[in-house]
Amino acid sequence: MPREIIAAGLEQRYGSSVVLRVPEWRVAAGERWLVVGSSGSGKTTLLHLLAGLLTPSAGALSVLGADLRSLAGRTLDRWRSRNVGIVLQALHLVGHLSVRANVRLAQYLAGLPQDDAAIDSALASLGVADKAERLPRELSQGEQQRVAIARAVVNGPALLLADEPTASLDDESAVRAADLLIEEARRRQATLVVGTHDARLKSRFEKTLVLRK
Ligand SMILES: Nc1ncnc2c1ncn2[C@@H]1O[C@H](COP(=O)(O)OP(=O)(O)OP(=O)(O)O)[C@@H](O)[C@H]1O
Ligand SMILES: [Mg+2]
Repeated sequence: MPREIIAAGLEQRYGSSVVLRVPEWRVAAGERWLVVGSSGSGKTTLLHLLAGLLTPSAGALSVLGADLRSLAGRTLDRWRSRNVGIVLQALHLVGHLSVRANVRLAQYLAGLPQDDAAIDSALASLGVADKAERLPRELSQGEQQRVAIARAVVNGPALLLADEPTASLDDESAVRAADLLIEEARRRQATLVVGTHDARLKSRFEKTLVLRK
């Protein structure tokens, strides 16, 4: 199955300290995983490894059939922008660009042609189509999060990653943010991996990976 994620003996070290150890982990295409663990257990580190933003210190990691240790530089950037959608805790929307232009940026960075229909459909499926011409600061926190999810999915990634998508939200909005990610992943038949310490989300995911310090 080329679209699987397979980790074996995966380790991330900083100096002499091992901050993440994943002896064995297999994620089939289309599965929805919650990665849980206390602060410092390595959730963000694992998501960064999956996105090819970090290189593993040891072990094997194959993501959607790509051996990430064999990709580097622009090839890796291109692979990431076409295959992986990422929603980080800090949303990183560009302040002086409209919502539409923020989403278009993902197409541009992936070297894909401008596709307004894909932008409109991503914004619409997340319920923010009417905000397309606004600046991020003119949106609520929850709306900004929806735009960040739209930007993550606009290129049709096979893998959708989200880091603490619920941290700054109240209970109801947190559950809604998780549901949006699940819904987008399902609609697009993408694999979803969400990192959180938020136990509220557990029941919504079919699989859980627990990280320990
Ligand atoms: N660049 C770095 N240099 C040294 N140590 C680091 C670096 N980045 C992360 N760490 C350490 O790695 C460990 C795991 O960090 P990580 O951010 O993955 O945890 P986390 O589970 O996401 O925590 P949180 O719930 O607080 O976001 C922590 O102990 C952290 O201090
Ligand atoms: Mg983290």
